[in-house]
Amino acid sequence: MDADKKQRRKIRALKKKSDKHILEYILKISEDVHNITDIDILLDKLLYEVRKFTNAEGGTIFLADEGSLKIRYTQNDTLFKDASMKYKYLGQEIPVSNDSIAGCAAKTGKLSVFKDVYHRGKSCKCGFNRQFDLSANYRTKSVLAVPLKTVRNKVIGVIQLVNAKDEKDAIISFSGKDQLFVSYFGNDAAVAIEKATATREMIMRMLRMVEFRDPKETGGHVNRMGAYAVEIYDRWAVKRGFPQELIRRFKDKYRIAAMLHDAGKVGVSDKILKKPGKLDDDEYKIMKMHTVLGYRLFANTNSEIDAMAAEVALHHHERWDGNGYPGKQDDLFGISVVEPCRGKEEIEIPVTGRIVAVADVYDALISKRIYKDSWPEEKVLEFIKENAGKHFDPEVVEAFFDIYDVIKAIREKFVEEPSTMEAPPKQAEN
Ligand code: C2E
Ligand code: SIN
Ligand code: SIN
Ligand code: SIN
Ligand code: FE
Ligand code: FE
Repeated sequence: MDADKKQRRKIRALKKKSDKHILEYILKISEDVHNITDIDILLDKLLYEVRKFTNAEGGTIFLADEGSLKIRYTQNDTLFKDASMKYKYLGQEIPVSNDSIAGCAAKTGKLSVFKDVYHRGKSCKCGFNRQFDLSANYRTKSVLAVPLKTVRNKVIGVIQLVNAKDEKDAIISFSGKDQLFVSYFGNDAAVAIEKATATREMIMRMLRMVEFRDPKETGGHVNRMGAYAVEIYDRWAVKRGFPQELIRRFKDKYRIAAMLHDAGKVGVSDKILKKPGKLDDDEYKIMKMHTVLGYRLFANTNSEIDAMAAEVALHHHERWDGNGYPGKQDDLFGISVVEPCRGKEEIEIPVTGRIVAVADVYDALISKRIYKDSWPEEKVLEFIKENAGKHFDPEVVEAFFDIYDVIKAIREKFVEEPSTMEAPPKQAEN
């Protein structure tokens, strides 16, 4: 809270200075932004920075997707006291047209600002849809909508901020400095957004090749795993008092690493992978190799993300009580099946693996798999509780239950459908 107050004071002082000071400040935070790899973490950071500067109550980032705008990230202090809400509006679509303020900004490529959107004046051609306010019992008043343009002047999305507030929390207009900040910072970030989107698409394409289940499932399962992992980690790390910036950097790598946890299944034959029934002992031994194979895919590179992906792949089936696999193998590059071996236990298992273990079993049990039916929710939760201290790290289980509303919101958002970032995957031919 105090740090928050201090920051706000700093921003207020900055806004009294010349434009040059503001642009210098943008350059300073720009470096951080360009070092972010994951698109969700990037959008979170972007919205955080523009809301900090403008002191806006809420904000939404829309990204252009096949001729329309899709809500890709949204925050609102008043509406979303509960963290699960940010997932609710995800993926909602609006046309690039004059029917809405964001649509209008995307269409014209021009910034627009309103003191009160309910009184827009005759010259304004943009519509405003009150449906959202009505359904959420909210009053949108001041609005700033800024198109996100890349260097080639292509509009890739829109940042829309609502209800700027003064020191006493009264709603005011977005100032000229606000407009300057959001357009410069937004355009700088647009380049990073394009890059992070391309990275995510590449990862999704790669995972589709693994395609060990119905290809339609890939997006759902993988996106859920990434989101569960960062949210559980966030809770776990906040409880331990880790600094925010460290948490953000960690999550940036961790979402991607968690999405890749099963990439080693690419080396397991379809006969085993897609077997409708129970695996026999030999098949299960081979299946267990997906941990080691995943590790081999990502080990021995210099990238921090690859290093974390290798760590997650290797450890996500270890158990807190030491009965997991692959355990303490002498030569990870030498083995071809996982024979029983002393497992790693407790904090010998990296926290990245301990968290993905909970998320993975939760997702496996609550979903239908080719080899099993879905379990009822209460049975799944009971199973997870019972396994705190056995299969799972009790602290991680605690974090999981602390944010269970968020976990559920993620599950509802990423049902078995392709990633919100891309068109549906093509059916692969065998
Ligand atoms: P997965 O489907 O993602 O399952 C991940 C983990 O969830 C499993 O790791 C296990 O710890 C837990 N889990 C899944 N289903 C059940 C269940 O019915 N009961 C209980 N108690 N736990 C469950 P595990 O066992 O090491 O399996 C790793 C992967 O091996 C699985 O990933 C799946 O792809 C494959 N697999 C495991 N058992 C079978 C099977 O009987 N048939 C087939 N076709 N594949 C299997
Ligand atoms: C996200 O990972 O979806 C955003 C980061 C966060 O607020 O947890
Ligand atoms: C899939 O879910 O189809 C593959 C993604 C993964 O390896 O976890
Ligand atoms: C950490 O605090 O990041 C590592 C310690 C642990 O794995 O619990
Ligand atoms: Fe696995
Ligand atoms: Fe899995």
